[in-house]
Amino acid sequence: MIEFGTHRDMGIDKYGHEMKVDDLEKVREDKSSRILFVCLGNICRSPTAEGVMRHFAARETPPMKIEIDSAGTAGYHIGAAPDSRSQAVARRRGIDISGLRARRVEPGDYSKFDLMLAMDRENLRALKSARPDNARAQLRLFLEYAPQSGLLEIPDPYYGTERDFELVLDLCTAAARGLIAELQQRS
Ligand code: 4NP
Repeated sequence: MIEFGTHRDMGIDKYGHEMKVDDLEKVREDKSSRILFVCLGNICRSPTAEGVMRHFAARETPPMKIEIDSAGTAGYHIGAAPDSRSQAVARRRGIDISGLRARRVEPGDYSKFDLMLAMDRENLRALKSARPDNARAQLRLFLEYAPQSGLLEIPDPYYGTERDFELVLDLCTAAARGLIAELQQRS
């Protein structure tokens, strides 16, 4: 017997509309965010942000389905592994970023990614000035997701000390948590 009116295969979308579960899953998958972290050289801050974000997204239950990458607005270090100081600080927190390789932001990134998160205003400006007409990515500062930090920019640690690299990791951790919380609210 066919049962009409059972809601077994129905769910409610975020607007309160009834939808087939299959369609809901599709909407959720479509919303699976693609996020690009951007700094200058792609060897210190943005690979740290990428590693931290991967680490925390994988620890969610169920693990968050997001695509994460990082790139630099400058091409000084293309193909290089993250700075050894960034790798060491991350490793001490159980995060392995040794396999990442630096690349430069490409025009196609603006249509591939939903969010391009710059580490500081200078890199946000560089992203905005190179934005192609067909761009769909939102361009923002990563620290907008960590208002409690009182900062909007992650300072460039390249000519700094180990403490500066620790600060990068702490700020990336705070912002990654904030970003994950916001992505969870949207789904
Ligand atoms: P990042 O740090 O932008 O966080 O990767 C830097 C890496 C290299 C240089 C500057 C900043 N550099 O001048 O080579």
